[in-house]
Amino acid sequence: MIRKLSQELVREIAAGEVISAPVDLIKELFENALDAGASQLEIKLFEAGIEKIIIIDNGSGIKKEELALSLEKHSTSKLESLDAINSLGFRGEGLYAIANSARIAITSRPQKQLGGATVVAENDEISFREHPAKAGTSIEITRLFANLPARRAGLEPKQEELRKITSLLSKYILHYPHIKLKLIVDDKERWNYAGGSFSEAVKFFWGAVSANRLLDLDFADNDYKLLGLISRPELSRPRRDRLLLAVNGRPIVWEERWLKVVFESYKELLPKNQYPVGILNLELPVERVLVNTSPDKTRLRFLDEEKVLRFLKQAISKTLSTHPLAPALPDLTNFEAISPAPNHSFPKLSYIATYQELYILAQADAKLWIIDQHAAHERILYEELTKRYQNEEPIELSHAELIELSADDVEIYLA
Ligand SMILES: Nc1ncnc2c1ncn2[C@@H]1O[C@H](COP(=O)(O)OP(=O)(O)OP(=O)(O)O)[C@@H](O)[C@H]1O
Ligand SMILES: [Mg+2]
Repeated sequence: MIRKLSQELVREIAAGEVISAPVDLIKELFENALDAGASQLEIKLFEAGIEKIIIIDNGSGIKKEELALSLEKHSTSKLESLDAINSLGFRGEGLYAIANSARIAITSRPQKQLGGATVVAENDEISFREHPAKAGTSIEITRLFANLPARRAGLEPKQEELRKITSLLSKYILHYPHIKLKLIVDDKERWNYAGGSFSEAVKFFWGAVSANRLLDLDFADNDYKLLGLISRPELSRPRRDRLLLAVNGRPIVWEERWLKVVFESYKELLPKNQYPVGILNLELPVERVLVNTSPDKTRLRFLDEEKVLRFLKQAISKTLSTHPLAPALPDLTNFEAISPAPNHSFPKLSYIATYQELYILAQADAKLWIIDQHAAHERILYEELTKRYQNEEPIELSHAELIELSADDVEIYLA
């Protein structure tokens, strides 16, 4: 028998497409703040956002007469035409989906409006009041999935939900490095990122070692632009998790054939099964990009794909070729076969020069040796530490030693 679904079920299904975990709420709210031109955000999470999320931005705010409307389905201030989307949001259903999954309280005041207002909504119940408020928008989410027990039960352990949130936020900040972000987890400050360059964001999230081995990408060809950072060959990873792409400000998932173009630009500079690291902010004419292709807005299509890929390849190849680079070490996966004898040593090298403060040039047996100074230094430290680790008893430090960790390292440590 065919019958109409109840209003309640329709709502639940619709909300589920957008919100299935706290990280989805953060994504919707963070994107709204970016669209509102915010330069500063504060996010407070309680129990990994399952109990409460507060997000405060200094963006354009919502007029009091539009606050209630912002929660309705298909209500947006952003979309003019699907052919030219230049904002992160455009469907007008982020807040609607949130209000159908949780209790949401939005307090907002546009800079020029006298006094602010708060709207509180949960399912169909809405309340509204006016009062003094700071400029910008502050949103509080509680009672997530209170009426959807199956979805609440489907949440992953708290640590995992939190990891998804920090991973999403770091990705956004790496693409929008000028944004200041304070993240407070269960009343403890987790991050206080002061905003800055791409390189400063990388230093904050991935550490100084990564930041020092990235090249600036700043390449333009007519109305195509590529900004960000891309790794020197000595910085690579066995996974592709640190190669980030945003198109017109939207962080998106790579298509395999786009990735291939990036890898090809490195040619033999990278060993097999190693991938580059980088942040690629691609800017294209908005009308040549189809954004409305996946419900979570993380995939898109280029109308001129071949041209875009040619541009991408050119931009990365040129950037790599304008810097002195040496290919990385050969692939060591077949380690047994080429492993040197235990007492192996370098031939007696005689020093020739240092090139651009990066490579040591030396010769031995009529062969030129090019040694990456950083890598060699790290190798020496690594071997020293390994020896000490194997031979020495652990010692208790009389004074605590402060070690600075990147945000990503902190997440690994806390996990
Ligand atoms: N933090 C904010 N600051 C200013 N305006 C906001 C903020 N959050 C939401 N809005 C306003 O509320 C409207 C509705 O937001 P909502 O997230 O539901 O839809 P959207 O962002 O337009 O589209 P999408 O569903 O794709 O996210 C927005 O179009 C915007 O005008
Ligand atoms: Mg939105």
